Amino acid sequence: MEYAVKSGNPEKQRTACLVLGVYQSRRLTPAAEQLDAVCGGYLGVLLRRGDLEGKPGQSLLLFDVPEAQCERVLLIGCGREREIDDRRFRKIAAHAAAALNDTGATEASIYLTELSVKGRDLDWKIRQLVEAAEDARYRFDQLKSKKDVPRQPLRKIILGVPGRRELAGGERAVREGVAIAAGVALAKDLGNLPPNVCTPTYLAERAQALAREFPALRVEVLEEADLERLGTGALLSVTRGSAQPAKLIRLDYRQGPATARPQILIGKGVTFDTGGISLKPGEGMDEMKFDMCGAASVLGTLRACSELNLPLNVIGLIPAAENMPGGRASRPGDIVTSLSGQTVEILNTDAEGRLILCDAMTYAERDQPAAVIDIATLTGACIIALGRHPHGLFGNHPPLVHALVAAGHAAYDRAWELPLWEDYQEGLDSNFADMANVAGNRDGGAIMAACFLSRFAKKFHWAHLDIAGTAWKTGKAKGATGRPVPLLTQYLLDRAAEAKDKS
Ligand code: BES
Ligand code: MN
Ligand code: ZN
Repeated sequence: MEYAVKSGNPEKQRTACLVLGVYQSRRLTPAAEQLDAVCGGYLGVLLRRGDLEGKPGQSLLLFDVPEAQCERVLLIGCGREREIDDRRFRKIAAHAAAALNDTGATEASIYLTELSVKGRDLDWKIRQLVEAAEDARYRFDQLKSKKDVPRQPLRKIILGVPGRRELAGGERAVREGVAIAAGVALAKDLGNLPPNVCTPTYLAERAQALAREFPALRVEVLEEADLERLGTGALLSVTRGSAQPAKLIRLDYRQGPATARPQILIGKGVTFDTGGISLKPGEGMDEMKFDMCGAASVLGTLRACSELNLPLNVIGLIPAAENMPGGRASRPGDIVTSLSGQTVEILNTDAEGRLILCDAMTYAERDQPAAVIDIATLTGACIIALGRHPHGLFGNHPPLVHALVAAGHAAYDRAWELPLWEDYQEGLDSNFADMANVAGNRDGGAIMAACFLSRFAKKFHWAHLDIAGTAWKTGKAKGATGRPVPLLTQYLLDRAAEAKDKS
């Protein structure tokens, strides 16, 4: 899809489809009023006749509007003017995108940019409209033998801005929206792929393909033999039961000053989580193919970062493995030695994410990171605690936690901090090793997992995003969400802006 920003009056646009807002109850937005003045009050008459109340979710497609330069007018219900907040605007944008896709128009000019959203500027609205348009077009049908290809003739979207002064900012917002949406789509594709296709080897191949597409990226894949030599005993313990070889995938993006410390993103890449010997119940187990969504979000974010040419140093680390039962699989009670030297008693083989992450975290020490952020579908308990709207967030450095909360708010991909108090740590005591991989009861499961990871984060600023509730949708709309690519990309955009301010 092609996007452009344009200043100028809506009524003068020679476009295949003009997209305008209508407030509740039956009130035209300023842009719609401008068109109405040209077409002799035609829109006003329709509203008074009761054809569109202006409620959110409503829309009306008009053809041959008298005196108008455009082929069609798509009116979108926006609800009450004063009630338009972030959430409502996202709904309006999503609904407009879906309605627009259903028309036969090949291009459209959207004026929903004029709606005022509390605390948000024009650039935010443009970015959200671009992300919504891309989201509405997303399909995952590569494995259906008969594709019910919906006709999607739409090729170009023009976003209206008030004047020439807003053009440069608007174009930047479009570039950011397009890059984020492409990162989200990549993360969705990887998440949605079945676990017999999306194996650790496949993830490594996709990382290499990404590096071919974006020369600023370099990839290195550590194989099991390399990992044995390194001494990542915790990571390797997870893959023992699997026929698929584990990998530690490393992506280097170095476009910042040579001396600038890198931001390191670590993504959990469990391509299927059966639980291992601590086998999960059968119901819904197919969804454990999504247990690599942290890894997918790292690839998606590095894609966005590369497309935007951010002047930063970023490293992506993806420990990838499949957690299976089998004759060689880890047993409850096994003790392994992590790369850090700390020993771990594996009391539950289903708490495998923390085992692969802790070794990747120790590995990250060698790059002297500015910050390490891990992203993981780590605990069912996080869904119990927070539901499926925010990511769970933990960290050992308040400014880093704050930066991630702020980035999540800015990108509308929100995270919520949970406590990581010392008081919880004793829950991981083991009689036989330095620590156990799970606590003796189910209390605060998301926190206990974060406590475990924190023991491997002593040498850097670190934050942990538990995306168990946010990485995919269950039920009828089952599918990966591509989150938290928007949050992470925003975090990197903010770091780039910060570096620019300092220089
Ligand atoms: N991948 C799961 C976490 C998960 C479960 C995410 C369900 C989303 C939905 C993780 O590896 C896991 O199994 N965690 C256990 C930890 C427990 C054994 C302490 C869990 O959450 O039950
Ligand atoms: Mn598990
Ligand atoms: Zn898991």
